[in-house]
Amino acid sequence: MSNEIKTVAVVGCGIGRSHLIEGYVPNADKYKVVALCDLNPERLNAVADEFGIEGRYTSFDELLKTDVEIIDICTPPMVHYGQIIAALEAGKHVVCEKPLVGSLAQLDEIVAAEKKAKGKLMPIFQYRYGDGIEQVKKIIDSGIAGTPYVATAETLWKRTAEYYAVPWRGKWATELGGVLMTHAIHIHDIITYLMGPISGLFGRVATRVNDIEVEDCISASCELESGALASLTATLGSQEEISRIRLAFSNVTFESDHAPYSPGGKLWRIIPASPEVQAQIDALLKDWVHVPERFQTQMARFHDALMGRGPVPVTSADSRRALEIVTAFYHSSETHTEVRLPIAPDHPKYKSWVPAQFRKEAAQ
Ligand SMILES: NC(=O)c1ccc[n+]([C@@H]2O[C@H](COP(=O)([O-])OP(=O)(O)OC[C@H]3O[C@@H](n4cnc5c(N)ncnc54)[C@H](O)[C@@H]3O)[C@@H](O)[C@H]2O)c1
Repeated sequence: MSNEIKTVAVVGCGIGRSHLIEGYVPNADKYKVVALCDLNPERLNAVADEFGIEGRYTSFDELLKTDVEIIDICTPPMVHYGQIIAALEAGKHVVCEKPLVGSLAQLDEIVAAEKKAKGKLMPIFQYRYGDGIEQVKKIIDSGIAGTPYVATAETLWKRTAEYYAVPWRGKWATELGGVLMTHAIHIHDIITYLMGPISGLFGRVATRVNDIEVEDCISASCELESGALASLTATLGSQEEISRIRLAFSNVTFESDHAPYSPGGKLWRIIPASPEVQAQIDALLKDWVHVPERFQTQMARFHDALMGRGPVPVTSADSRRALEIVTAFYHSSETHTEVRLPIAPDHPKYKSWVPAQFRKEAAQ
């Protein structure tokens, strides 16, 4: 069947509800959500009633015994690792929210499980999708942009005590990290997606905005494998929320739309070095076909991959790169040294970046 409808179970009814609204409902020709799972029956029933979903589970293990094809994990971060492994072992395809897992060691175990599994795994990085980033990616991949010079990435968001009232947030044992893991991870992924891998990072982390264990302000200076440089800054204490990415290449400078939660959606400023470069860009983008933003396109492309019509759009290798940045930040900030990437199993923070005083709790 060329356009087979795949069955999905969404686990976790917080952002899971957005996966339904933005990801599965607009792709009703590709997916049918047949089940929901949440430990909280009230939340479960409210979302299941809203979307008319009959399968309702408060037990993940019971859900895995059903014949649903895709398990979409939208639970808090500390739960992801166990649920991904169990779902892959049960022969399911797996979609999982960021941050995928809590260390590079766990990430590499996921990669090993994936190799043995029947199903495919797609981590979520929905900020990559939409006309803005898609056009920039196309121009860069075509070679028109030229040599990368510098990138700046700013994740300037606002989170208050109300946000941290949810018990799993703000703690090492459950959130597994702070603004680096939960918020800026999207924007940092876009930097490597568009400009290539980071080879060295000197970073600092601090907790200044909220009364939490994990960091809420970060800043780093990076070298990319291409030789380009990048600066990464994030805070949860910005009174105006923006995500801003600016990329300078030899032939083109790009600047993102500043929409905090969808920097890919609207068109970016594309500033050419000359009329000739502009003409090349115009020719490249001449027959542009609209790319819906966020989950709609990520889920549509996952379906293409399941149908054998393309690669999995976001992979565990992408998650590894994102978690290397996190690992490097924590180590660099603690030791005041530059960290070289990629990070191998002999790195002191390969198994965990959780500070020693919180480590016992995180391991429980
Ligand atoms: N991609 C994005 O833009 C985005 C946005 C928000 C959150 N997230 C990520 O999504 C994940 C969930 O965040 P959230 O804000 O929706 O959290 P949340 O607390 O609002 O919702 C999580 C839900 O999971 C349920 N749950 C917890 N453990 C469970 C288990 N073992 N089995 C079944 N259900 C369980 C909880 O009862 C809760 O209803 C986190 O990893 C977060 O970082 C991503």
